[in-house]
Amino acid sequence: MKIASGWILVSGGSSGLGAACVDRFLELGCSVLNFDIAPPRTDVLTRFPNRCQYVSGDVTKEEDVRSAIALGTKRFKKQLSAAITCAGILHSERAVGRDGAGSLDSFRRVVEINLIGTYNVARLSAESMSQVEVPVADADADAERGVIVMTASIAAFDGQTGQSAYAASKGGVAAMALPLARDFGRLGIRVVCIAPGVFETPMMQVAPEKVRSGLLAETPFPHRFGEPREFALTVQHVIENAMFNGCTLRLDAGLRMPAK
Ligand SMILES: NC(=O)c1ccc[n+]([C@@H]2O[C@H](COP(=O)([O-])OP(=O)(O)OC[C@H]3O[C@@H](n4cnc5c(N)ncnc54)[C@H](O)[C@@H]3O)[C@@H](O)[C@H]2O)c1
Repeated sequence: MKIASGWILVSGGSSGLGAACVDRFLELGCSVLNFDIAPPRTDVLTRFPNRCQYVSGDVTKEEDVRSAIALGTKRFKKQLSAAITCAGILHSERAVGRDGAGSLDSFRRVVEINLIGTYNVARLSAESMSQVEVPVADADADAERGVIVMTASIAAFDGQTGQSAYAASKGGVAAMALPLARDFGRLGIRVVCIAPGVFETPMMQVAPEKVRSGLLAETPFPHRFGEPREFALTVQHVIENAMFNGCTLRLDAGLRMPAK
């Protein structure tokens, strides 16, 4: 997929990994819509006023996502060609703790935002991409309508103590990559999931020092946390390289998370 062929939707683009994707794709000359429940840093909007749009909304709401896609298509006067789902929340709670069973409402909220929200953005983005007319000249095996890059976590595979909700939500995202790729294959749309290890974002910067140092100790090389731009570079490569489809890529410097 040529990176600037259409416009790019980034959910959760106001912070961390999503914000790094917004920055990267704006630098590459793309038109980017940041769909996030919280507002972005203003400098991005002022540096690229014609190619950057922020829309406030919730990934779990059908109407919010539909209107953002419609707005982007109208505003940028081209079709959606890539959707990057970064919106998500972290949650830690033992299934049975000192005060008894963990909260069912918290479990539902995490799954609602991280898994159902990701599915909502993926399905509505693919619906919009499916309306793109592929030029006759491109009508060969590689004629792509779009790419969807979803963000899971290595917690999908090595969830730690207290991560049952978060791990379940991210495991669901990783598990969806193949069936969604199969659903969308006939439409010329690829689906790839990235499972990051630990990246220096506001989400991880608030983690207790004990948790951070424990994770760093288990990171073989490079012995540091990831930079958000390294995540954005991976997303760029996945979009540009048509052979990635229906899979989950670990991006974790070899980290296998311990139980605690
Ligand atoms: N940072 C890491 O180490 C790491 C590791 C593995 C996976 N992840 C995943 O990567 C994604 C991005 O994480 P991050 O570290 O950049 O976090 P972050 O907290 O910096 O950014 C997350 C963004 O999602 C937005 N958001 C939350 N709920 C939303 C909703 N309902 N609708 C729309 N937007 C919503 C937030 O406002 C925020 O801007 C998340 O899904 C996270 O689970 C992060």
